[in-house]
Amino acid sequence: MTQSLTIRRPDDWHVHFRDGAMLDAVARHTARQFARAIIMPNLTPPVTSIDAARAYRDRILAAVGDAAFTPLMTCYLTDGIDPAEIERGYAEGVFAACKLYPAHATTNSAHGVTDIRALTGVLETLQRIGMPLLIHGEVTDKAIDIFDREAVFVERTLGPLTRDYPALKIVLEHITTAEAAAFVLEADHPIAATITPQHLMINRNALFDGGLRPHAYCLPVLKRETHRLAVRAAAVSGSPRIFLGTDSAPHVVGAKESGCGCAGIFNAPFALEAYLSVFDAEGALPHFEGFASEHGARFYGLPLNEGTVTLVRDAVVVPDRIGKGDTSVVPFLAGTTLGWRFAG
Ligand code: DOR
Ligand code: ZN
Repeated sequence: MTQSLTIRRPDDWHVHFRDGAMLDAVARHTARQFARAIIMPNLTPPVTSIDAARAYRDRILAAVGDAAFTPLMTCYLTDGIDPAEIERGYAEGVFAACKLYPAHATTNSAHGVTDIRALTGVLETLQRIGMPLLIHGEVTDKAIDIFDREAVFVERTLGPLTRDYPALKIVLEHITTAEAAAFVLEADHPIAATITPQHLMINRNALFDGGLRPHAYCLPVLKRETHRLAVRAAAVSGSPRIFLGTDSAPHVVGAKESGCGCAGIFNAPFALEAYLSVFDAEGALPHFEGFASEHGARFYGLPLNEGTVTLVRDAVVVPDRIGKGDTSVVPFLAGTTLGWRFAG
């Protein structure tokens, strides 16, 4: 049995760092395991300008201290955003990608896009300059069952989008369904997907396991077991279109354990251990490095990282809480034991 695994330093292609005290508390967990991360822009107010992204990047660099970590900033798309600002931000190396939230799809998405079809100028620009469009792929139509919103988005929105913009680089973020996995794996299009640890490890039963479980609530919401298995198969397949994106999304414990609990799972502290346990269980250790350290960089057109990290087979207990006071968060898999330890 493999007792230790050394891979090229990995990247997290989807993370929420927040701001202020929470940023200071959580950023170091990602910087400890990953060389770079795509930083989601859904702050209040959202990051919609080059100046805001530069300032946020500086706050992140201050929060991670002397860790060798590069935050890759994203631009939050709104209905009125100026394509020239996006193009200039990309050319200046401030923006790595744009993030499309359908308005009201999730946390801090009220300023998101109400009609993707109306974004013509932005989409044409992204396609022309080769800048990736990162998509939260759920319809927001309240008439659609919440468990179907991703599959309906794939059919209604993503299919037409790929036909209309055949060279537009797309990352379908945090896929959760067999439909999304099949689309990404099979499309004749430059498209890829990120996958979170939670969508690989638990299904929607976890939301109701002996009672209502707010710490298992994220968006897109967990799906039924058949979907988890399809997403898991995609993750370990070795496809260059599939890569690591934790969607680590910390909310202070009181905002989760509430009459209207926030969506988001904080998985950054044990992210690599969690993913690796999945690849190990699937007999797919040889595909782990591609998923964690190569496919994302190649899709984004960025260099692979130098250096390595090592994980060793060992029992690691995930604590019940991380942080105190305003930054007290319950981590993913709290109280459980993982079979791998990050050794640096
Ligand atoms: O569960 C989620 N939390 N999904 C998202 O799309 C946003 C995120 C957050 O920012 O909390
Ligand atoms: Zn997210």
